[in-house]
Amino acid sequence: MTVTIFVPRDAAALALGAEKVANAIAQEIAARGLDAKVVRNGSRGMFWLEPLVEVRTEHKRIAYGPVKAGDVPGLFDAGFLEGGQHALHLGPTHDIPFLRQQTRLTFSRCGVTDPLSLDDYRQYQGLKGLENAIAMTQADIVAQVTDSGLRGRGGAGFPTGIKWKTVMDAAGPQKYIVCNADEGDSATFADRMIMEGDPFVLIEGMIIAGIATGATKGYVYTRSEYPHAIATMTEAVEIARAAGILGPSVMGSAFAFDMEIRSGAGAYVCGEETSLLNSLEGKRGIVRAKPPLPALQGFLGRPTVVNNVISLASVPVIMDRGAAFYRDFGMGRSRGTIPIQIAGNVKYGGLYETAFGLSLGEIVDHIGGGTATGRPVKAVQVGGPLGAYFPRALFDTPFDYEAFAARDGLIGHAGITVFDDSADMLKQARFAMEFCAIESCGKCTPCRIGSTRGVETADKIRQGIEPEKNKALLADLCNTMKFGSLCALGGFTPYPVMSAMNHFPEDFSPAPMVEAAE
Ligand SMILES: Cc1cc2nc3c(=O)[nH]c(=O)nc-3n(C[C@H](O)[C@H](O)[C@H](O)COP(=O)(O)O)c2cc1C
Ligand code: SF4
Repeated sequence: MTVTIFVPRDAAALALGAEKVANAIAQEIAARGLDAKVVRNGSRGMFWLEPLVEVRTEHKRIAYGPVKAGDVPGLFDAGFLEGGQHALHLGPTHDIPFLRQQTRLTFSRCGVTDPLSLDDYRQYQGLKGLENAIAMTQADIVAQVTDSGLRGRGGAGFPTGIKWKTVMDAAGPQKYIVCNADEGDSATFADRMIMEGDPFVLIEGMIIAGIATGATKGYVYTRSEYPHAIATMTEAVEIARAAGILGPSVMGSAFAFDMEIRSGAGAYVCGEETSLLNSLEGKRGIVRAKPPLPALQGFLGRPTVVNNVISLASVPVIMDRGAAFYRDFGMGRSRGTIPIQIAGNVKYGGLYETAFGLSLGEIVDHIGGGTATGRPVKAVQVGGPLGAYFPRALFDTPFDYEAFAARDGLIGHAGITVFDDSADMLKQARFAMEFCAIESCGKCTPCRIGSTRGVETADKIRQGIEPEKNKALLADLCNTMKFGSLCALGGFTPYPVMSAMNHFPEDFSPAPMVEAAE
């Protein structure tokens, strides 16, 4: 029997040497005349173990990692193809605690299958949701997605079914599905992992969205910094088209749907849906005023669904297993699962899909294992660069949209960045303002001017210039930005700034002049 060895093709694994490892394994197989083949899978999302190599023995998959090219001959000597013992031997992949404790619905195939094998995709429940959708009415599909409780995973948490209903009900000669794969938030990589590790699930989700709303054309808008995701998605679209899954008759049905992959130049604001639509139309990525909603006048002025990758990629499992199955996971109004992306100064960084409801402390201390430096955790920023910094005192907050909002925070795209006690929170507050100043599209004054004034004010606090007056001024600026900005870039920058100031007041005392030059 041919033994299968899995070596990830995910960008994180490649950055850690997966290509060299795959080549070394292929050479060793040839040199030793063994009956084995290498399959390039996606990542399992345990980045401290990458490149994570797996061997499929008769019953299980045995993991080894992190593997370097130089380890390969020794692995073969140790009986690697039979799952033999070695210093890098991790046991059965599914038994690794970080993976075993997860509830993988959206990421069920990621790291398991060959991302570009339709046979693999079908073998692991792929296309079942689409088959069901084809047999349903548009209204029933929309009702199923609404009943599942799925909310947008891009940041705002808007109910996906309600958005789809608006587009379904809108009249128009042409409607569009636009997948927001810009993924600009710090500490986030879930979209990239799906595109590189299970691209057909996104394609399937987009086709279902198209059938539900009457859209026949889709676009994935991603960033040029994601070359591997672009290449994998492009190839997957071609494979799906050749197999009749995309095209004038989706899987032999009366529905047509086709799609293209587009890349932007990587401006953070191009992740904002209206700015994204401008960029997709070939215009400058500047925010549009709402109304009109993109659902009514979106891409080229036509009714358009704009959904995040994870929102769309969660639809196939909902359509396959049913709304009740998905809704059963989670807490409160946060239903289903969420792929939490754990990053920053943390021991076990990676992707952890779980039902909503774990506390922040469980995620950081138990799953993430605390800081990589071994120093105490000081703060955790949840939700990307516009998210609040939470101190240890708020570690009992459950991972739930409403619970975070009640504490002036947000879940956003579910990226969390961990900081140890060496972090300087005044510096982080200044950074938030500086980030906003650099990334502002310039359309409205509170954001364009306010962010620059914010940087100056933070510098004055640092320099000890009328600190109390300037702290009050910084809070006042934040208030103006929060309520006066056109979009969430200016409107949410106050969250990291104010949370840093409120939770870590000791860091907002003046320091010697020498630090001001940093
Ligand atoms: C400055 C800014 C950047 C954003 N970046 C992203 C992004 O990278 N990806 C994303 O899906 N949503 C992003 N959003 C949210 C989108 O505007 C929009 O809410 C989302 O694409 C809707 O999809 P969903 O309902 O599936 O979440 C951003 C919003 C703002 C204000
Ligand atoms: S808040 Fe900033 S990014 Fe958003 S529209 Fe105004 S200037 Fe543009």
